[in-house]
Amino acid sequence: MKRSIARLVTGAPASGTAATADAAAAPPPAAAGRRRGSIAIRGLRKTFGDAVVYDGLDLDLPQGRFISVFGPNGCGKSTLINMISGLMAMDAGSVLYDGRTIGETRISYVFQNYREALFPWLRAIDNIHYPLKVLGMPRRRREERVARLLAEFDVRIDINAYPYTLSGGQQQTVSILRALVTDPEVLFLDEPFSALDYEMTLFMREQIQKIYMKTGTTTLLVSHDLEEAVQLADSVLLLTRRPTRVAEMVDIDLPWPRTARITTHPRFVDLKRHCLDVFWNEVKGR
Ligand SMILES: Nc1ncnc2c1ncn2[C@@H]1O[C@H](COP(=O)(O)OP(=O)(O)OP(=O)(O)O)[C@@H](O)[C@H]1O
Ligand SMILES: [Mg+2]
Repeated sequence: MKRSIARLVTGAPASGTAATADAAAAPPPAAAGRRRGSIAIRGLRKTFGDAVVYDGLDLDLPQGRFISVFGPNGCGKSTLINMISGLMAMDAGSVLYDGRTIGETRISYVFQNYREALFPWLRAIDNIHYPLKVLGMPRRRREERVARLLAEFDVRIDINAYPYTLSGGQQQTVSILRALVTDPEVLFLDEPFSALDYEMTLFMREQIQKIYMKTGTTTLLVSHDLEEAVQLADSVLLLTRRPTRVAEMVDIDLPWPRTARITTHPRFVDLKRHCLDVFWNEVKGR
């Protein structure tokens, strides 16, 4: 588990860190060059004591897409992305990224609790440098890479500050930048904005969209907020209660970018209502 967490911070495949350092130096792929193929999940099983969470889940998640995961409390949203990202062991099953194992794929993970995720003894800038440093990238190349990243996302934070002096949203921005610095192929986010106030949440939704539109990185976002799940995603993965199955994968055919105003658009309201109906059927229907 410790090794997995180190890997999530560095984003490195399990083998060949030197090759990864080179890959990490590459600029993020343009959205036009986004990945194709899919993340293929087969026969996924997971049980905690008497609680059967997954009992043979099969699922294909398209790469190069933004997918929100939404479902009842405790249905296994975090468990799902933790297993897909390799952070948690499966009881049985397999996950292949375009035919490759997780160990052969560059991933990053943004945790809900940014206060515990950032290294408090490192300044914001050194937190962002950290994964590249672990990968052994020389200082000058790291500095170039980080400068490019900060410029791309127009970051207006005192990057020389220590995390405790930054606001929650600023700290979570630093976490997200740290996750992006290795140019991951897949980005996992587990309720990353749930500890932020509404204004900051709206701002962060814009930031994450900007990143997605620029990089086309496959993104899996767990959200407990249906508005957020619909606003940000190409598809919303709706899950059932345990033992958990896919209730529906809903395509969100709204144009990008999606500002806060889109949440009042009739098509948005229709899509959200549909997702809510599926959710309520699941929660109340038994
Ligand atoms: N490490 C663990 N040990 C025991 N039970 C666990 C563990 N992790 C998760 N569970 C149980 O598995 C189920 C799914 O948990 P998980 O955290 O994945 O759900 P979730 O959908 O993310 O929930 P929430 O909406 O509260 O974030 C829950 O019943 C939870 O109690
Ligand atoms: Mg969870």
